[in-house]
Amino acid sequence: MKVLGLETSCDETGIAIYDTDAGLLAHKIYSQIEQHAEYGGVVPELASRDHVRKTLPLIDDVLEEAGLTKADLSAIAFTSGPGLVGALMAGATIGRSLAMSLDIPALGVHHMEGHLLAPMLEDERPDMPFIALLVSGGHTQLVRVDAIGKYKLLGQSLDDAAGEAFDKAAKMIGLPYPGGPYIASLAEHGNPDSGIKFPRPMTDRPGLDFSFSGLKTAFLTAVHEALDDERFNEQFKSDIALAFEQAVVDTLVIKCRRALEQESLKRLIIAGGVSANKRLREQLESKLAKIGGSVFYARPEFCTDNGAMIAYAGAQRLKAGQSSPLNLSIRARWPL
Ligand code: KG4
Ligand code: ZN
Repeated sequence: MKVLGLETSCDETGIAIYDTDAGLLAHKIYSQIEQHAEYGGVVPELASRDHVRKTLPLIDDVLEEAGLTKADLSAIAFTSGPGLVGALMAGATIGRSLAMSLDIPALGVHHMEGHLLAPMLEDERPDMPFIALLVSGGHTQLVRVDAIGKYKLLGQSLDDAAGEAFDKAAKMIGLPYPGGPYIASLAEHGNPDSGIKFPRPMTDRPGLDFSFSGLKTAFLTAVHEALDDERFNEQFKSDIALAFEQAVVDTLVIKCRRALEQESLKRLIIAGGVSANKRLREQLESKLAKIGGSVFYARPEFCTDNGAMIAYAGAQRLKAGQSSPLNLSIRARWPL
């Protein structure tokens, strides 16, 4: 079965074809990041318009790359939430109409389920059950995964998502949007002995919830102090980026380890934009090795938004005999 996947929940148009026998056949991502960068965040109206413009040409591109025509498709999966309403509507309308015209099933996919399953597109993938850490611009969640569709939320951020914290911190020191990758590359030149220290929020008490808004405030205070003392220069920016990245990564690592211990599991998947972070991957690998655990993740382009994860999640749903009715609905907010 060949499933076309459409991802249009935010600022990337991601299109892919996943074959339940042969695996991923083709995928393309068009990023709108440059258009939104000058506004410091995603402008919903611009995002929807661009998805409308790009989705059909990209579908033609992936079909050509896979050497297929529309008649070869078995189903169409599209992101039906959570995300920006107009952006979701663009993909859902195109996906649903195309499925109707081809007389094949359409599948509305949860964006976070897509992220969660993205590491399953790789050769090295874990058996279920496992723990998933979902870390994106909008979510920070620890989930126990027993089977496709069988997810138990173990903990989540009570305020800002980890990616959001990276983006806000980056903005405070004048870095472009989205700031996560910029903080990470600045941090490579940071001095670990700079003396800048940030808290590891909510790690000193039991539980698997997160809170990143205090860290953001601590970051702003440190920036103001440096400005007042005229210490705010390129080296300071690298040092504070490193201290911040270490604080977020340590916090995530502590909670992942705790989740594995609590659930008596050894396998962890990390997914979502922040799972592209090199320090997070390295720290998890070394810290989990000590308890006999292992960590799995997707290649960097499948950590952030992409169509392959939606095509894959849709294919799993199709195998389970599911599909979405004609009167499709999209959901801006939608718990996993
Ligand atoms: O999953 P994603 O592409 O979109 C959402 O669904 O939110 O995640 C985007 C988030 C942004 O906050 C971005 O700054 C962050 O992922 N991100 C990173 C890195 N790459 C992307 N954060 C830290 N380190 C990175 N290397
Ligand atoms: Zn996402």
